[in-house]
Amino acid sequence: MPDVRIRFLDLPAQYATLADEVRVAVDEVFRTQIFLLGPTVARFEQALARYLGAAAVVGVASGTDALYLALRAAGIGPGDAVLTTPFSFVATATAIARTGARPYFVDIEPASFNLDPAGVRRWVTETCRRAGGGLHARGGERVRAILPTHLFGRICDIDALAAIAREEGLDLVEDAAQAIGARTANARAAGALGRFGCFSFYPTKNLGGAGDGGAVVCAREADAAVVRTIARQGADGGPYRHVVLGLASRLDALQAAVLTVKLSRLDAWNAARRRHAARYEELVAATFGTGGPVRTPGLVAAHVYHQYVVRVPERDRVRALLAADGIETQVYYPIPLHLQPCFADLGQAPGDLPEAERASREALALPLYPELPEEAPAAVVAALARALDRR
Ligand SMILES: Cc1ncc(COP(=O)(O)O)c(C=O)c1O
Repeated sequence: MPDVRIRFLDLPAQYATLADEVRVAVDEVFRTQIFLLGPTVARFEQALARYLGAAAVVGVASGTDALYLALRAAGIGPGDAVLTTPFSFVATATAIARTGARPYFVDIEPASFNLDPAGVRRWVTETCRRAGGGLHARGGERVRAILPTHLFGRICDIDALAAIAREEGLDLVEDAAQAIGARTANARAAGALGRFGCFSFYPTKNLGGAGDGGAVVCAREADAAVVRTIARQGADGGPYRHVVLGLASRLDALQAAVLTVKLSRLDAWNAARRRHAARYEELVAATFGTGGPVRTPGLVAAHVYHQYVVRVPERDRVRALLAADGIETQVYYPIPLHLQPCFADLGQAPGDLPEAERASREALALPLYPELPEEAPAAVVAALARALDRR
């Protein structure tokens, strides 16, 4: 293999800018020996709630658990249906299935890769029926919630989805795992736009920990208490009294210490991501023209570019040529969720959700992270031009 000239991500470069502060924060946790629950976690939860303008935040063990816990706290379970996107990380939909509810997928908007509100409205009006004061999906399940993902860091068309949710009496649960720090035009934060918002602190996220971690953001204090109960073995505060079937899902204090340090840098990091995205946009327009073979996400205000994902023809061949040229890229996601083997029992077939399927064939994530060397986008776009010329 050729030497890597441009890495897809460089976490050691980020750590070098923080190492002293992180070590002090981590040492403090070791000094106190309070690794779970306790003041370090509480301080982080409060700092994140303030940053987001949310009523409450509950630190949990992962983004996957955050989604599951939010759905459980909304009372979702067997006999229910949740509408979601087919173009996301698998946890978005497995969290629904883990509650016992059934996920239903509606296609995405091609420009944003996000759940298409027009499709959601069609799904509601054309495939559901109203009975007993509720909305029922094809399979008879009661429709309870819409779960959009803000994919790659771009806030979905949340106002349109919120309007449908309001009209139909559904909960809105955001998968904001990739969009921490993104804000709408009126400065509302991703993750604080629905009844629940879910974050992942997986190390590669815009706000990444030193291991697994996640958070449930709650618009209502009372919901946070329910999340905490379920996440702590269903205990309601009475000694070893368990009122519901719960699990152990906690953000640990070492993660909270690291994340508190990193939260203070998040806006600057996201600004650097936007700067690199702007550079890619300029270079692609200058090299291929608009309407050329490379379609970019555009410079969008409500986007923190967790990933900078373009569409290219013959994606896998282009990706191999870039790799041979020393440029690392990634594919998110090569199989849409409705065609994943783990969801075979939902009975969906190729062709059912054409936009998600096309995105799975065309999407290519280019290197973009705050510490990306300033000259990298030009080298990546030049390599992309060479790769596309060699067809
Ligand atoms: C969109 C999305 N949802 C959910 C998750 C799950 O988060 P975790 O890996 O922390 O469980 C991730 C990240 O991994 C994600 O990108």
